[in-house]
Amino acid sequence: MSEGIAYRGLREWLALVDQAGQLQKVDGASWEEDIGMATEILHHAPGSPAALFDHIPGYPTGNRVLANGLNSKERLAITFGLPSDLSSFELSSRIAAKARNSKYLPFEYVQDGPVLENVHTGDDINIWEFPVPRWHDQDKGRYIGTGGFNITRDPDEGWFNLGTYRVMGDSDGRHAFFYVSPGKHGRIHRDKYFARREPCPVVVVAGADPLLFLAGCTEHPYGLCEYEWAGGMRGEPFQVIKGQFTGLPIPADAEIVLEGFAHYDDLKEEGPFGEWTGYYASSSRLEPRIEIKAVYHRNNPILVGSPPNRPPDEQSFYRSFMRSPLLKEELEKAGVPDVQAVWCHEAGGARMFVAVAIKQRYPGHAAQAGHIAASCHVGAYCGRYVVVVDEDIDVTNLEEVIWAMCTRSDPATSIDIINRAWSTHLDPRISPEDKEKGRLWNSRAIIDATRPYDWRDQFPAVNMPAPELRRQGMEKWGYLLKK
Ligand SMILES: Cc1cc2nc3c(=O)[nH]c(=O)nc-3n(C[C@H](O)[C@H](O)[C@H](O)COP(=O)(O)O)c2cc1C
Repeated sequence: MSEGIAYRGLREWLALVDQAGQLQKVDGASWEEDIGMATEILHHAPGSPAALFDHIPGYPTGNRVLANGLNSKERLAITFGLPSDLSSFELSSRIAAKARNSKYLPFEYVQDGPVLENVHTGDDINIWEFPVPRWHDQDKGRYIGTGGFNITRDPDEGWFNLGTYRVMGDSDGRHAFFYVSPGKHGRIHRDKYFARREPCPVVVVAGADPLLFLAGCTEHPYGLCEYEWAGGMRGEPFQVIKGQFTGLPIPADAEIVLEGFAHYDDLKEEGPFGEWTGYYASSSRLEPRIEIKAVYHRNNPILVGSPPNRPPDEQSFYRSFMRSPLLKEELEKAGVPDVQAVWCHEAGGARMFVAVAIKQRYPGHAAQAGHIAASCHVGAYCGRYVVVVDEDIDVTNLEEVIWAMCTRSDPATSIDIINRAWSTHLDPRISPEDKEKGRLWNSRAIIDATRPYDWRDQFPAVNMPAPELRRQGMEKWGYLLKK
């Protein structure tokens, strides 16, 4: 195990979270209303504990649901084996540095594992044996897949992808849907099978090691198998068993797994579902159904839920930590010099409001940084606003970013627009007519909120003391704040 990561699998992670006083156990909450409502409340209270629901009416004791797992800095720090007393920016940079310094480690096949404790096939398949919550009151169905990931294989190139895509169970308990926005890697895989009129093999993991979950919901490069990223982070390969119907690699210690085939010619209505933008924006559409061939689960399984709620919520919280340093790395790889910091703000769902701080080196530097941030792999999907600021602005502080926007940008000359950029059915600002016709694009504003390069030396000085003077001031006068 790599230095720091002191657990293997969800259950050991939960034990550490419990030891750290970060776990709340809840008995008797209903799947119909209570779990979704309690999760909504926890999501909107920063730093709130993880909640493990048990004794769910209608279900056997021990058949549990975990929610709000990653909504605190302490729990993210535990996940990556890092100290929890770092600033948000430092913690996210340390996570990225750990990834940068790790070698990708391929998974290894094993013959057995806890996921095989219960295997149902044929007439024994019924996904409603799990207490899948109704997460939002206007959701059409019960979403078993929110805090997990889906595994697919590229039929041409052979590589495996782990991607977190919502999974709604169908009422018969034997089918499910995975909604994947066009352009996501799992969607590209599925499209390739469907173009050949073949079923797409897929595995839905509805609870597993949080490292694998964070790997699956983060924008890793096309062609990278997320098992390798997560194995590298842990310093040890992930163990998998081979799915008996699809051959896909299933985490040997996963909690709940559905294995089957999505069919291009078996379409049924999926959605609406309350989404990360804060709306039921995707309404319902015909989506391919997955025919479930096998259900695997551990004894006393834990279904992991990470339902999207109106941001800022749990999802935007952990995604800001994962996505911000990746975006910074992509800017650097694209050759943008002196990028000081990047933050994908929680209020924009960690996608729609991105702040980039640079130390300006030449005319056009800010526009270059802004356009690349809006268009690179990490930044492209469903972005909206990119604000480029000078290095004296703390990009993680929304108020400082807004202050820079208000005082250093000129709306008539500082905003560039990109049209017809990559968006999704989930975008609430695309009209129903455009969605109907597949015109799934939106526009982007790149706001240059840096001091204008050509007269930056004459820009009025900020009326705050320089950092060293302020530090001295705090030493002398800080006591005034203590009353
Ligand atoms: C909780 C959660 C749910 C998500 N649900 C979906 C979804 O339903 N469809 C989708 O396309 N992306 C969804 N995403 C975003 C993808 O997981 C993310 O873009 C990821 O990078 C996709 O993997 P890929 O790059 O391998 O395609 C979700 C993310 C999270 C954190």
